[in-house]
Amino acid sequence: MLQQMRSPTQASNTLARDFFQTIAAGLLILLSIPFPSLAHPLKAAPLDHPHVFTFDQFYLPEDDDAFLTQGGLILLAELNCSSCHAPPTAWSPLIGPKAGPNLSGVGSRLDIDALWRLIRSPQHRKPGTQMPGLFAGNQESDPDTIEALATYLASLTSPLPTTSPGDPAQGKILYHTLGCVACHEPATDYRPPSLPPEADLESPSLASSPIALADDYSHPALTAFLLDPLATHSSSRMPAQHLSPAEAADIAAYLHTGRIPAAFQERKILNLPPQPIALGQTLFAQNRCQSCHDTGDQHPPPPPLPALIKLSPSSPTGCLSTQTRSGIPDYDLSPLQTRALRLALTAVQSQPKPTLTPPEQLTHQLSKLNCFACHDHDGRGGPEIARAPYFTSTLRLLPNDDLQNLPPSLSALPSTHTPTSLLQRLTAPNSKPTPGTRMPRFAPSAIQPLPTLLLPP
Ligand code: HEC
Ligand code: HEC
Ligand code: HEC
Ligand code: HEC
Repeated sequence: MLQQMRSPTQASNTLARDFFQTIAAGLLILLSIPFPSLAHPLKAAPLDHPHVFTFDQFYLPEDDDAFLTQGGLILLAELNCSSCHAPPTAWSPLIGPKAGPNLSGVGSRLDIDALWRLIRSPQHRKPGTQMPGLFAGNQESDPDTIEALATYLASLTSPLPTTSPGDPAQGKILYHTLGCVACHEPATDYRPPSLPPEADLESPSLASSPIALADDYSHPALTAFLLDPLATHSSSRMPAQHLSPAEAADIAAYLHTGRIPAAFQERKILNLPPQPIALGQTLFAQNRCQSCHDTGDQHPPPPPLPALIKLSPSSPTGCLSTQTRSGIPDYDLSPLQTRALRLALTAVQSQPKPTLTPPEQLTHQLSKLNCFACHDHDGRGGPEIARAPYFTSTLRLLPNDDLQNLPPSLSALPSTHTPTSLLQRLTAPNSKPTPGTRMPRFAPSAIQPLPTLLLPP
């Protein structure tokens, strides 16, 4: 079934895009530097809040508190609040910590300038990112602290495989047909062949997951990431699309079309004194980076923070307040996200264990992993209308109003499935990748307890 769209961000996105395009056009004239075409996936409208695809998709300011509480629970999980504020044990499966990217080889993906810029202000480097800023602008100490952190992370390298340069034209086709555009922005200069000649190419109304960091990765690093995203991003929010090495190199070449590497100057202008690696490692622990990131090194645990049940949801300080100060995560939350998080905190604090019914638990898990980007379940989800043409070779409707070839509904799984066969289906490498949309691969640790919940009792 095609998803009913709910898009609070649609109007503001259009405005933001106009604004951005004006700025971009101005910059282009001013600087006369090569600027990536706005037709490119990396040029999606920038977002002004951490992007959690299914939260943006399904929750609106006019929603009542009971409904919005469920959206707040998704945010508690996805923004990883429980990595610093321990959740009650009974709530852990729903909102327990989620691993951020593994940084043990990050120095091979991002150079010291790119690291500095991201740590300094994640939201400036990657609008819509879920990584909170931890440096609110303490002019005295922040730049040196960030320099030490970046120096430490730049020292963490691991060898990258040699890759072919890749064919961007082929990569463009793969990007738009394999399933990437379920979550990421389609280019405005690609027309899905299923779209009849008289039909307009519509832009998606749901904001896409941003991928700005693709510009900072070298081509071999981007290829390695696409080939096996679960190796570093085990949370599987970006699942593995069963790419061959050649396909990964092609898509990386396409994503790098018009790339301007290392255009960043701020760190160089500051001309900071060099900082020792060991200091960076200490600061990594002190700043609680390790609550979300593994680096392969041992870090002493920082002093514990109040548990989730002890937090005051309307506290004038802390992560839900608008006051920012270095050391307290700044997520750049939207007012709707703040309201949803306050409701969810209150729910966790007033109920010793979750009262979600099994169908609600299933919705929660499918939302966290964004299975809804491709599949519908119980009338919710599936590619939105503007994205559906990328998932089908013909826009022909089947008798049940489904479009032919869309990923199957999860409400009607074949009765032959068992928890074991589903686990296998969701996690096993696919030795024979097919043309067209591919069912991706997830890390086994990330999809618990989906296989059991998906089967009717
Ligand atoms: C990297 C660690 C970290 C993460 C992740 C984190 N917080 Fe915090 N939080 C803090 C620190 C540090 C404080 C300040 C604690 C203090 O002053 O004692 C704080 C304070 C708070 C407070 C105010 C506490 C009070 O009662 O005054 C609230 C509410 C809060 N956080 C909610 C959240 C929510 C919701 C999330 C997820 C969106 C979150 N936090 C994620 C570190 C974190
Ligand atoms: C189910 C949704 C989903 C699908 C399908 C998907 N991605 Fe992603 N992708 C994400 C999310 C979410 C992130 C952010 C990573 C994180 O938070 O762990 C991401 C991250 C990335 C990044 C890293 C850059 C950055 O700024 O984080 C690239 C590059 C990327 N995706 C490209 C692709 C390509 C190419 C495909 C298809 C082969 C694809 N993605 C398929 C959800 C998806
Ligand atoms: C609440 C969890 C959280 C905390 C705390 C956190 N990060 Fe992150 N970090 C993330 C997430 C999530 C991403 C992925 C962002 C994205 O793709 O948009 C990320 C991405 C990164 C990346 C890029 C990784 C890559 O492979 O592309 C670096 C580097 C990084 N963080 C460093 C840090 C440092 C240094 C700190 C401490 C100052 C820190 N992070 C604190 C969640 C966190
Ligand atoms: C990028 C799009 C995409 C995403 C994201 C996605 N799937 Fe799929 N899925 C497909 C496609 C296409 C198929 C059909 C082709 C196939 O079975 O290989 C499929 C098939 C399946 C099947 C097999 C159905 C059957 O009839 O046996 C199951 C089960 C499934 N997906 C579950 C999930 C779950 C659970 C998630 C989230 C954790 C998910 N999928 C995420 C595209 C996707």
